[in-house]
Amino acid sequence: MNKLLEVKSLHTLYGESHVLHGVSFDLSPGQAVSLMGRNGMGKTTTLKSILGLVEPRSGSVSFKGEEMTTLPTWQRMRRDIAYVPEGRGMFHNLTVKEHLQMAARSNTRGESNWNYDRVIATFPRLEERLANLGTQLSGGEQQMLAIGRALVTNPDLLILDEATEGLAPLIRKEIWEVIRTIKESGISTLIVDKNIKVLKDLCDKHIVLVKGEVVFSDSSEGLSERLDEVESYLGV
Ligand SMILES: Nc1ncnc2c1ncn2[C@@H]1O[C@H](COP(=O)(O)OP(=O)(O)O)[C@@H](O)[C@H]1O
Ligand SMILES: [Mg+2]
Repeated sequence: MNKLLEVKSLHTLYGESHVLHGVSFDLSPGQAVSLMGRNGMGKTTTLKSILGLVEPRSGSVSFKGEEMTTLPTWQRMRRDIAYVPEGRGMFHNLTVKEHLQMAARSNTRGESNWNYDRVIATFPRLEERLANLGTQLSGGEQQMLAIGRALVTNPDLLILDEATEGLAPLIRKEIWEVIRTIKESGISTLIVDKNIKVLKDLCDKHIVLVKGEVVFSDSSEGLSERLDEVESYLGV
């Protein structure tokens, strides 16, 4: 099968600090892949390297068979990649409705399956808050808006960095349900999160980083078989 995303031997440094030591993995169309690891192991740096937000010293990233390594971030995103970064508070003085309407566009194939109405139907909580400013939302609602804003760009790959971090259990559950719906709609996902139980159930493949190196890369079945080992990497 052709790969949707291929990451090969990424080495990324911040100044003198060598953070990624040859990270490689791939993702097939329709797959959900988890990227796990303790804090500071290089998960966000891997995502930023894929998106061109940091420039790897060596290695390559290709998407839909096309080499992207030297493209600027906006051109990568125009090839149907959407990114929900970690942390919140990236909202301007716009209402929920305005945020979604401004971000909405069709993808490179001219598809707009995920339009404003579908996103609102997927996030009933947002529907109640359409006239609220993004900055007035709770943490969970902001996360939903961030995911909604990514979805209306009709991506082939959705990259989520710690989307459920710091949220109340009920909201967390709602977000996982939405991620499942997104997966079922055919969008591939690369998910950084700490909840190994949910990820094992949801994702097709799992990557674990320790100090910028891939120490585990396998299916959910493989993860079940080596659960103790993986939990030790995660400090669970
Ligand atoms: N902008 C930066 N400048 C310098 N060091 C950074 C920067 N961002 C991250 N780091 C360092 O790189 C390492 C990996 O960070 P990160 O990729 O954010 O890890 P994770 O997402 O797994 O928690 C950490 O040691 C972190 O302190
Ligand atoms: Mg991170």
